[in-house]
Amino acid sequence: MSITGIKGMNDILPADSACWQFLEQQARTIFAAYGCREIRVPVVEKTELFCRSIGESTDIVEKEMYTFTDRSNHSLTLRPEGTAPVMRAFIQHKLYNTDQVSKLYYMGPMFRYERPQKGRYRQFHQIGAEIIGIDDPRIDAQVLAMLSHYFDAVGIDDVSLQINSLGCPQCRPGYRQALVDYLQQRLEQLCPDCQRRYLSNPLRVLDCKVAGCKQSTAAAPSVLDHLCGDCADHFTSVQHHLDLIDVDYTINNRMVRGLDYYTRTTFEMVTGSLGAQNAVAAGGRYDGLIEELGGPALPGIGFAMGVERLVLLLQERDISVPPPALFIAALGDNAVSAAFTIMHKLQRQGIHVEMDFGGKSLKAQMRRANKLGCRYTLLLGEDELASGTAQLKNMNDSSQNTLQLAGIEEQLRTVLDA
Ligand code: HAM
Repeated sequence: MSITGIKGMNDILPADSACWQFLEQQARTIFAAYGCREIRVPVVEKTELFCRSIGESTDIVEKEMYTFTDRSNHSLTLRPEGTAPVMRAFIQHKLYNTDQVSKLYYMGPMFRYERPQKGRYRQFHQIGAEIIGIDDPRIDAQVLAMLSHYFDAVGIDDVSLQINSLGCPQCRPGYRQALVDYLQQRLEQLCPDCQRRYLSNPLRVLDCKVAGCKQSTAAAPSVLDHLCGDCADHFTSVQHHLDLIDVDYTINNRMVRGLDYYTRTTFEMVTGSLGAQNAVAAGGRYDGLIEELGGPALPGIGFAMGVERLVLLLQERDISVPPPALFIAALGDNAVSAAFTIMHKLQRQGIHVEMDFGGKSLKAQMRRANKLGCRYTLLLGEDELASGTAQLKNMNDSSQNTLQLAGIEEQLRTVLDA
């Protein structure tokens, strides 16, 4: 029996890779305009990093991590997200000494042991950005502007931005208590999962998809009514600056995030087209995280987009790969060798050229050129070779031209560039 891949971990086949490259390239271009530079971190980290940053009582740490002991008995984990590893690298390499502000982006695979379904996988990919060193609400607006710029640029419009504020260590405990008090009176109506976690992680109850939990939390206290003065001002200013630059958003005071490091502004880019997996991008502020991980007390804000979900949304759009510029159809050993050399020289100049290696008839080679959608075919047989020429056929209008073999690469370039 042949060996198959692992459930929830997908191959990205050539038919889809143009779409992936497009999404990655757009991110590189757009993020650069906002001053972000790429950082690449390993896919494996010490388990402790994720426990300390994401939080022990989150779904990710409790039940979704790919954790294993290596041969030296160290507990390691395949990264379930990118923020914690990027902060670890930021602290370890003291990037704060190089510049007061670090604007970083990353892309790559993440791993979570979730139940696979459309839009949810065990190996999935994120493109993320993290801006470290500024707590000014204008940077929150900038980050959201960059995110919405990206969605505009890639042509995904079936999304909307939801924002919330989760407060800070000063005001969150008050809200948490108000929520626990509220939930305590409705414990019987909650699902077993929420009955278990309403004390350890009461905010997650607001996010529970079970109908009974949704119903019984409908009138739960709002986090926005419990913000301290500073957090309320910060959130108002974020909104003001989003308005100033025409970034659309709605406020969703029930949005809680599945990771514990968030403070103040949190947000999600949601879509109506992907069923239950409606968050295409998500993020927020994490002003205490760097210090918590042993670094200086610097604020940060960032987001990550789920690339598989972006690809699903882009599927209707035709991101086609250009066909080969030229097919060389050659017949006879000497002609094939000459064709091989011409192909090599043109490829060295960055031109996509194809030829047949199977010794097929001229007719079969022409069929292949047609199938590939080549704009031109160069015909080279023993007769042409003897006369030092080749025939160039325009595949659109079937017109044919005679080219001299001497300096043919230059002549072809001129035609192909036109
Ligand atoms: P997150 O909400 O856990 O946040 O994930 C961000 C995005 O990754 C989601 O909105 C979704 O599009 C995608 N995603 C998550 N899990 C899966 C999955 N199993 N399959 C497919 N896509 C998935 C974070 O990871 C934070 N690190 C974001 C952040 C960056 N916050 C601040 N900076």
